[in-house]
Amino acid sequence: MAAPSRSTAVLTLLLVLPAVLLVAGLASGEPWRFAIRPSGDFAAKLLVFTLSISPLRVLFPQSRWTAWLMSRRRIFGLSAFLYALFHLAVFCASIGRLDWILEGMAFASMWTGWIAFGLLATVASISNAAAMARLGHWWKRIQRLAYPAAVLTLAHWLLLSRSSTEALLHAAPVAGLWIACGTRRFSSPVARAKLK
Ligand code: HEM
Repeated sequence: MAAPSRSTAVLTLLLVLPAVLLVAGLASGEPWRFAIRPSGDFAAKLLVFTLSISPLRVLFPQSRWTAWLMSRRRIFGLSAFLYALFHLAVFCASIGRLDWILEGMAFASMWTGWIAFGLLATVASISNAAAMARLGHWWKRIQRLAYPAAVLTLAHWLLLSRSSTEALLHAAPVAGLWIACGTRRFSSPVARAKLK
């Protein structure tokens, strides 16, 4: 396997750093729940960023930075899943009882998180070349499960936090980018000619 480029190595270090700081906090005696919100936050931020890369590439098809982002979309997507896994692990450790964890699933604020996690795990499990070859056109369809996962994460966040501002500010960039893509698509001369 080829050695990662310098920029990929730096990116990976930056993506791992928050987890290292959270583990250091836990190792220095912080309670498990101290890591629930920040890990959920990172998972949501990385998920939003990953879903922003395709529309950015559509809007800036010639630019080198969107090409750089596109070729590292898998790293961002897998990081979002790994922070969601970390989030789930510290949540379960902080509750400490399986019966309470299962009881909690009845609440919309929790089952939205569980389903989002299940969808992200499905997408992460096929984020490799072998699965891509094996699944053919189904691969892209399954990858699109990241969108309902994002919507469920937003619902999870809105149901848990007192203020909706922060959660909605995270959703706005993806929504804005896709609206910009749609506008560009339907305002192109080709699209307009088709409408005539
Ligand atoms: C697997 C099932 C999940 C469970 C049981 C769970 C549990 C929780 C809990 C208990 C909180 C509240 C923490 C607090 O206020 O102290 C929380 C907040 C949060 N979770 Fe989850 N979560 C799950 C999945 C996810 C996933 C998949 C994501 C993102 C991809 C996510 C993102 C968040 C965010 C962004 C917050 C709010 C953080 C904040 O208020 O700053 N969660 N979660």
